[in-house]
Amino acid sequence: MPTINFEGQDFVCGEDETVLECMTRSGMLIPSSCQSGTCQTCVIRALEGTPPPGSQNGLKDTLKQQNYFLACICKPEEDMTIGLSLVSPRNTVNVIEKDALNESVVRLRLEKPDGFSYKSGQFINLVRTSDDLTRSYSLASTPDDDFLELHIKRVPDGKMSCWVFDTLQVADEVAFFGPAGDCFYVPGKPDQPLLLVGTGTGLAPLYGILRDVLVQGHTGPVHLFHASLAAPGLYLEQSLRDFATQYEHFTYTPCVLHGDTPEGGQQGNIADIPARELGSLSGYRVFLCGDPPIVNALRQKSFLAGVSMQDIFSDPFVFAAQDG
Ligand SMILES: Cc1cc2nc3c(=O)[nH]c(=O)nc-3n(C[C@H](O)[C@H](O)[C@H](O)COP(=O)(O)OP(=O)(O)OC[C@H]3O[C@@H](n4cnc5c(N)ncnc54)[C@H](O)[C@@H]3O)c2cc1C
Ligand code: FES
Repeated sequence: MPTINFEGQDFVCGEDETVLECMTRSGMLIPSSCQSGTCQTCVIRALEGTPPPGSQNGLKDTLKQQNYFLACICKPEEDMTIGLSLVSPRNTVNVIEKDALNESVVRLRLEKPDGFSYKSGQFINLVRTSDDLTRSYSLASTPDDDFLELHIKRVPDGKMSCWVFDTLQVADEVAFFGPAGDCFYVPGKPDQPLLLVGTGTGLAPLYGILRDVLVQGHTGPVHLFHASLAAPGLYLEQSLRDFATQYEHFTYTPCVLHGDTPEGGQQGNIADIPARELGSLSGYRVFLCGDPPIVNALRQKSFLAGVSMQDIFSDPFVFAAQDG
């Protein structure tokens, strides 16, 4: 069995065990969130030994070359010495605004640290400073905003989301590290049609991307479909309708699975609606965010409707089955 050396102590990795599971079982705290290789919270560095290539999926080449890897998907094949050298510095900031966007979604605005740079649609890893509980949240703000905006949905019994709803107050301190993620708009091809589809708080990254796209003078048609189980789950409707009035090439379609169809909206399975409404999606660039099974279904349907895989960007909001 491979041995993990950390700060002079040896930990034997069980059969089929990840580095994260081994260290957690041994009482060592490694920050983690999704536990499935998506959020990059658990990135650590092999100081000796080589991490298996699969444990570096999604990391930048510069990090791969320095032997960084994701502890939650790393089943070591040889002995390793690891160090918790952080890839990005941890920022400590105050909450500057907190308000309800609907019954189950809260908008947090955080101070933006000097020199912090990101692209709209990327995410940060938010840290509760009292115990280092960490979860990923997408940025709904754009780099031009002088705050960082998050949209957080209350998950029943969810440790972070319920704390944000029930306890966190304006002026309180939180920490975060990041940004990470590659679901963002890259300028170029200004006349390419864009399709943005999100479920629930999957609107957060899309709201940032949309404002970025409009500000950057994208001229091609931009379609945003925002889906919820029923109308009360939608949010920022008026703001999106205002954008649609202001920008002729932008359309906003609120979608629900059940109940009354919102004005100008659609009812049905969101995985079917964009292709049904727009027809062929050949030539489109597509951004998909939110509930993982729906994001995966939309990715498949977009491909079948003609979108090149290279033009599909997605952020499934993967969560750990058990707390990490
Ligand atoms: C890249 C990325 C971006 C994300 N962006 C956002 C965002 O912008 N807004 C946002 O609200 N969330 C976002 N998430 C999800 C977020 O990171 C947390 O998973 C979520 O807030 C739940 O955390 P929690 O601590 O409240 O729940 P936990 O204590 O982790 O979970 C409690 C229980 O609920 C289950 N659970 C957790 N999340 C869900 C869910 N969404 N639906 C159903 N069951 C669930 C868990 O399996 C567990 O049993 C994102 C996730 C990723 C990976
Ligand atoms: S990538 Fe390892 S916890 Fe998310």
